[in-house]
Amino acid sequence: MPDPEAPPDAPDDLMEKVISLCKRRGFIFQSAEIYGGFRSTYDYGPLGVNLLRNVKNAWWEAMVQRRDDVVGLDAAILSPPAVWEASGHLSNFTDPLVDCRNCRQRWRQDKIGGVCPNCGSTEFTEARAFNLMFKTHAGPLEDEGAVAYLRPETAQGMFINFANVLQTTRKKPPFGIAQVGKSFRNEITPQNFVFRTREFEQMEMEYFVPPAEAPQWFDYWLDERFRWYTDLGMPAEQLRLRHHAPDELSHYSAATADVEFLFPWGWDELEGIANRTDFDLRAHAEASGERLEYFDQASGERYVPYVIEPAAGATRTMMAFLLAAYHEDEVGGEARTVLRLHPRLAPYQVAVLPLSKKETLEPLARQVLASLQPHFMCDFDVTQSIGKRYRRQDEVGTPWCVTVDFDSLDDRAVTVRERDTTEQVRVPVDGLVAELRARMDRA
Ligand code: GAP
Repeated sequence: MPDPEAPPDAPDDLMEKVISLCKRRGFIFQSAEIYGGFRSTYDYGPLGVNLLRNVKNAWWEAMVQRRDDVVGLDAAILSPPAVWEASGHLSNFTDPLVDCRNCRQRWRQDKIGGVCPNCGSTEFTEARAFNLMFKTHAGPLEDEGAVAYLRPETAQGMFINFANVLQTTRKKPPFGIAQVGKSFRNEITPQNFVFRTREFEQMEMEYFVPPAEAPQWFDYWLDERFRWYTDLGMPAEQLRLRHHAPDELSHYSAATADVEFLFPWGWDELEGIANRTDFDLRAHAEASGERLEYFDQASGERYVPYVIEPAAGATRTMMAFLLAAYHEDEVGGEARTVLRLHPRLAPYQVAVLPLSKKETLEPLARQVLASLQPHFMCDFDVTQSIGKRYRRQDEVGTPWCVTVDFDSLDDRAVTVRERDTTEQVRVPVDGLVAELRARMDRA
């Protein structure tokens, strides 16, 4: 029976294929692999680091660069308990843990439906609340006064800097503060490759609005965020918006909707968009004694803004883009694997390929490479036959291959091959940057 929830045209073993491709081609490696691997932590290899950076850059461009109402921030990862006490994370950021009385395995109670996935037993210990924050000590003393936490979300950095940003930028609501960076959660059941890990990257924006305008800005950000994914080539039929039921809402939220992606195991969250009300600013104002509010000089009104928060995972989103891009098709009767990544996300936008290893081609090929490098992330490959090199570039999603052949020495033109159609056209070397730029702009 075909799985009605499976993405259209996806191979049955899509997840295994993408994980294998990630390792084979240098997107993602198991961390500390030479020591047997450290569970649930991953290192991003030469191609993965480019793809992840492109995802984060595309987010930053849409959320900060192209807007005059959002500014950026890069706050500390280490933070004192006071922050997490006020935010509610010390008391609320917990999962219910149970131990199987038969096999002694430990599980998240809300994920197993009353049956031990290991041995099938239904006998468990009482549930205990397990806090997901990583605790450490700052400085040489390991006493209570030295306790610090690795942030479990980037969001609190924006709230505790609200007054700093307001004063230094002179923004007024509606305005946002955006941040991209690592967060850490001691997940009990990390799973599905980089979908849920203990160390991951988030892309979050806190948008401060007059309270009465919160519902309309919530709807606005749902639309904006959904479109961000489709603009970057994610098929709309593999995305959906899911509104949370009242009993699902976090302790701070008046409304939440998730952008979900159709993963091989079904629909799951890429991003949450929440109306956090004035919960965070009020909590930090009360705990710190600082005024965290906005004074509107024109109207003489003083108020605590509400917050609309689009909160996405960068590493999880990168994985979704890889899954959506993975295709197997046939070219000239030969099977190929192709990553149909949007050119802005592809690890390399261009590969420069001298047709042969003969030394006569190298100087022009290197000249072409040097002319492209200021504009695009480029690969340069002289190994194997040209057909094999095309396949290698298809497999990592490079949208354009530029081949320098013996005719190029006479006519100063090169062949540009397009990844998805495999169409080839001759382009003068002098017009190459402009041609590829135009293609990039059209994508
Ligand atoms: N500030 C709100 C917040 O952090 P969240 O839904 O817990 O909300 C936002 O996290 C996004 O961060 C999620 O939609 C997901 O993409 C990503 N994320 C959360 N936990 C993660 C984990 N353990 N591994 C990878 N990504 C994670």
